[in-house]
Formats: sequence, C-alpha cells, structure tokens
Amino acid sequence: MRVTPRILREYKLKSRPIVTLTAWDYAIARLVDQAGVDVILVGDSLAMVALGYENTLPVSLDAMIHHTQAVCRGVEHALVVSDLPFLTYQESMSQAIHTAGRILKETSAQAIKLEGGHPAIAATVDRLTMLGIPVMGHVGLTPQSVHTLGYRQQGKNEADATRVVSEAIALEQAGAFAIVLEHIPAALARTITEKLSIPTIGIGAGSHCDGQVLVTADVLGLSEKSPPFAKKYLQLDTLITEAIKHYSTDVRQRKFPASEAE
Ligand code: KIV
Repeated sequence: MRVTPRILREYKLKSRPIVTLTAWDYAIARLVDQAGVDVILVGDSLAMVALGYENTLPVSLDAMIHHTQAVCRGVEHALVVSDLPFLTYQESMSQAIHTAGRILKETSAQAIKLEGGHPAIAATVDRLTMLGIPVMGHVGLTPQSVHTLGYRQQGKNEADATRVVSEAIALEQAGAFAIVLEHIPAALARTITEKLSIPTIGIGAGSHCDGQVLVTADVLGLSEKSPPFAKKYLQLDTLITEAIKHYSTDVRQRKFPASEAE
C-alpha cells in the first residue's frame, strides 16, 4: 500500500519514526523503496550529488521533472515528494501554482516540498493545499538561501529560535502535511515537534523529530562533501573504484571476457 500524508500523521500519533531518504534516479529509487522507507524525496540536492553543481540553486524545473519521473518509475510503496527548485515558486502565486502543477501533472510524485516559512511562503502553501496539492515545508537551514544564511546552524539564539518556531506554526496553519527541520538545535526541534500536530522530519535536528531524512549519497558514501550531521553507512565510492580498477585490469590483461573455445 502506498504511503500517504494521512498515514504519516498516524505514524506521528503512534510515535512510529518516519524514515525518509532522497533519490535522484530510477536505480537508487528502486533500491531505497525496496528497503522499505516511508518517504522518498527527490531533493534539489540532486543538483550537487547527481549533476555536480556547487549548490542547489542552478537546477532547473525541467531537470527536477526529468529526475522525478525516473524516481517515480522505481517506487511502488513510498510517498514521493519532489522539491520545487530555487526561484520557481517565490516570484508570484501563479508561478508557484504553475510549477507545482507541472510536477504533479508531468510526474507521478504525490507531493511537493518548498523552502522557508515567512508569510509569503505560508500564503503559497495555503493556496497550493487549497488546490489539492500536498505540500511539505522546510525550515531552519534552507539550502536555497545559501548566499544569505550559509550552511550554518539556525535557531541558535532566542530571537532566531522564535522565528523558526513561528515559521513552522505558520506552515502547519497553511496546510503543510509535514515539515523538514534542517540543522537546528535538538531542543528547538523537540519544541516544534511537540507544538505541531503534523510530523516533523529532521536532518541535523536531533533525535526528537517524528522522522529523519538524509541525502542518500551521504548515507552510501558517494558524496564528495557531507554535512557534519550525516552518517555514512557504506563506503560505496571506494567499492566502486575498486570494482572499476578490477575490471580495467581484467580487460588490459585479456582476462575479460573469458576466451571462447575456437
Ligand atoms: O534537497 C534535499 O535533499 C533536501 C533534504 C536535505 C531535506 O531538501
């Protein structure tokens, strides 16, 4: 059975942690889904992990749609959420509706995610949810604001913590079905998680969130640079390099393919 936003809400009520990972293509999505995660995020982090950009800003809507279509072909069980890229929803309400509409019409993703919680973004979330588009919010460190916030932890002083809490509340009131809390103190994430009735999905936000998300390339050891809060469960880069060297040696020494009987 497909995971839905309603099921995620039930998981929060039952204190069942929500497992979320990113995916950027069919092969990774298939494996992540078969492993039984609840939510697969086609994050705009694919700009860095799959396309080699310095940050998430350059990825286009067409590229996100292309990758989301591939991910959806590999997923049967998890809820698929696709990120709206930088400046494809902040310009105007009609731009946001057009962008979210393209994702839902041109891919099989069931929800979208956008960053930030100031009143203009909350108004956008309100409008999109009113139109029947499930929206996941994202507050704290928002990578699309790298040039103003950097990759620093957010919500460290009282005023900033108050801002993050009120953004999360505004997103819930606007109809978001879940919120990513990125790189904020664990105590602040706990406060937000207790205040909200929708699930919080933490990344670098401690253990008290309703769920956790990581970038799959960080988990597998494929990223060139990982954030300090990521955990590497595998050193896939080394394994891949070793396998390719082994194949190269076999070809150069004419061990592969095996010689056929003449
Ligand atoms: O783009 C992404 O992968 C994300 C996660 C880090 C939450 O937004």
